[in-house]
Amino acid sequence: MNLLGSLFQSSIGRKFLMAFTGLVLFGFVTGHLISNLQIFLPPAKINAYAHMLESLGAALWLIRAFLLLCLLIHVWLAIQLTLENRAARPQAYGVEHVNRATLASRVMARTGLVVLAFIPFHLAHYTLRAGHPGWSEHTFRLADGTMVRDVYSMMLQGFGNQLVSGFYILAVGILAYHLSHGIVSSIQTIGLKNEKWTAQLQRGATAYCWLYFLLNAAIPLAVLGGFVHA
Ligand code: HEM
Repeated sequence: MNLLGSLFQSSIGRKFLMAFTGLVLFGFVTGHLISNLQIFLPPAKINAYAHMLESLGAALWLIRAFLLLCLLIHVWLAIQLTLENRAARPQAYGVEHVNRATLASRVMARTGLVVLAFIPFHLAHYTLRAGHPGWSEHTFRLADGTMVRDVYSMMLQGFGNQLVSGFYILAVGILAYHLSHGIVSSIQTIGLKNEKWTAQLQRGATAYCWLYFLLNAAIPLAVLGGFVHA
């Protein structure tokens, strides 16, 4: 049996896969935020960056395929875990028993579902540019004369819509809340469980998630507030 198969078979293997794929996706969303913050720099920066990514060609598709595989495994195992927990939970006698688990840990499935709904919306919006054929035609001339796609203007137009911006802010807020438990849980699962560090790890994860949320929310808010313009 291959390694992936044997990991899926055991409960410890499934926990490890869940943590590993979660950390990969966490790495992606962090990198994605750092790239998106280039919207606060002159337009050439983010446009050149998007062009560089597109120029990766087959390598970009490999990265996309790996991320998609991680997402699918993470979601599949999350569904299994939720069903197993539900089946194991004793009947509640009309009273909701609140244990020591944090609220963030108890609503992981629900926050995960919102993030999962956000992804196709987001891909349709900015990657497929559904309903906005003009966005694919906007071009920008780099300093060396290369004509590239104008991602900067696309983001200005996209976030110019208050409803769209509101949904982005809500989605990144919920993703940050999901991460506030996910980061701690994943790090502990891959073997770095140490009672002494737990409180510090949780504080660090909470601080990170607030920063993640505020920096992400700053992008649509800055566009709506007119701080970032053409
Ligand atoms: C305010 C927050 C966000 C902004 C401003 C943003 C912006 C963008 C933009 C402009 C693109 C298209 C890039 C291009 O056309 O070259 C993109 C692609 C993408 N975004 Fe986001 N994004 C945000 C949050 C997120 C989150 C939270 C996730 C994941 C949960 C995510 C996942 C993706 C993915 C998977 C792609 C496609 C990448 C590819 O084509 O390979 N984004 N984003």
